[in-house]
Amino acid sequence: MSDTPNDKRHAPAAARNRDPIAEVLAGVLPETGLVLEIASGSGEHAVWFAERFPGLTWQPSDPDPAALRSIAAWIEQSGLENLRTPVTLDAAASDWPVGSADAVVCINMIHISPWSATEGLMAGAARLLPAGGPLYLYGPYRRGGAHTAPSNEAFDESLRARNPAWGIRDMEAVVEAAEAAGLTFEKAVAMPANNFSLILRRAPR
Ligand SMILES: C[S@@+](CC[C@H](N)C(=O)[O-])C[C@H]1O[C@@H](n2cnc3c(N)ncnc32)[C@H](O)[C@@H]1O
Repeated sequence: MSDTPNDKRHAPAAARNRDPIAEVLAGVLPETGLVLEIASGSGEHAVWFAERFPGLTWQPSDPDPAALRSIAAWIEQSGLENLRTPVTLDAAASDWPVGSADAVVCINMIHISPWSATEGLMAGAARLLPAGGPLYLYGPYRRGGAHTAPSNEAFDESLRARNPAWGIRDMEAVVEAAEAAGLTFEKAVAMPANNFSLILRRAPR
């Protein structure tokens, strides 16, 4: 992550993964409605996807004030009208500043936050989404108790060294947490650089 003038941050990984993610999102997101993005980070994804999916309104969020400033700066530069002002949102909180959404998107947060953020994410998505509404997740996961690549194992070690509460999660545990909150697992899609898209949907109430 690097800073540019005018508060804009630049995450090189976001530029690399935005097109493969958009391809999957095209088959998952509704044509119209509100998308709540959790952990928007620099805001580059928000602007890219808002432009790519003009029928949708994109609501970015993040708990980090510097991220919120970056998101706002990218939005201002974009001139797009289907982007909302970013809101402060900690996924672990039991009360979110957005009351409903037609889809929830969360990219690269689950491994770089405590497990309580994942549990809060699942509870929040289940609260906000209509029956059938999608929760889209992207990031690295372990499968069957094992890393899917040596580079992920090294990344996991570096994450845990930075914060023992962080780390690459077992996909099965993430799906279990989602199902406990009232979501159903639809599919996992293998993505470039040993990442996965996970598609979950709100179960009927
Ligand atoms: C690796 S960055 C990913 C940012 C962006 N989604 C991307 O892919 O470029 C992780 C983001 O998760 C956010 N984050 C960390 N803990 C969080 C939490 N409890 N709730 C919501 N976001 C959180 C951080 O502030 C940071 O912006």
